[in-house]
Amino acid sequence: MSQGEEKEKLHVEEDEKHLLLDHNYDNIHELNHPLPSWWNAIFLVSVIYGTAYFFYYQVFGGPTLKEEFHTEYGRVLAAQTEFKKLNGVFSQSFYDGIVKNDGVKKGEEVYELNCMPCHMENGKGDVGPNLTDKHWIVAKGNPDSIHHVVFHGSEANGMPAWGELIKKDEVYQAVAYVMTFRNTFVKGKEPQGEIVED
Ligand code: HEC
Repeated sequence: MSQGEEKEKLHVEEDEKHLLLDHNYDNIHELNHPLPSWWNAIFLVSVIYGTAYFFYYQVFGGPTLKEEFHTEYGRVLAAQTEFKKLNGVFSQSFYDGIVKNDGVKKGEEVYELNCMPCHMENGKGDVGPNLTDKHWIVAKGNPDSIHHVVFHGSEANGMPAWGELIKKDEVYQAVAYVMTFRNTFVKGKEPQGEIVED
């Protein structure tokens, strides 16, 4: 039987006839369906992307992962410095506003939640120093210096930098509450640091 005659006998849908390939093996015929256009499109895009990627990173010296990390980390550090510059400076008028707006009472809540584990109730101290005596290690017993140590912390010695952990208002409220411990001399941790007279 000639190839032509064989083809005649095949059952092929009318609209697929043009796809029939000219070869057969043991009467097995093959249709040549083209790849779907979406597949071709994705393939083409990947090839273009892959080529551009290769040339950018391997040939034209695009940044390595390490360099990209350093750039982004630098941005984070810059934002942190900016944040500290903006909020880390004590403002007396802002503090007065906070105190007037129930600051001490709100500060007590902030204290219980964040400071109590180390400075204990009434500021008598445990892990952190006693906040009720005249002795001060880093602060000087006034709102300005207390704000500084609460905001920036003294991280090498175990006091976290709260400026990055709680809201600006909460830092000021905590300071207002800590100020109420002043010279209450609660028995607790022994005095540390230098005596600061009023
Ligand atoms: C993880 C324990 C810990 C927590 C929580 C903590 N502190 Fe401290 N704090 C310390 C330590 C330790 C020091 C002493 C730092 C030093 O010696 O430089 C300190 C120092 C201080 C000082 C300065 C005392 C001085 O003698 O100069 C103040 C004020 C203070 N903390 C307030 C707070 C407030 C307010 C909070 C809550 C928002 C808080 N601390 C939360 C551990 C803590």
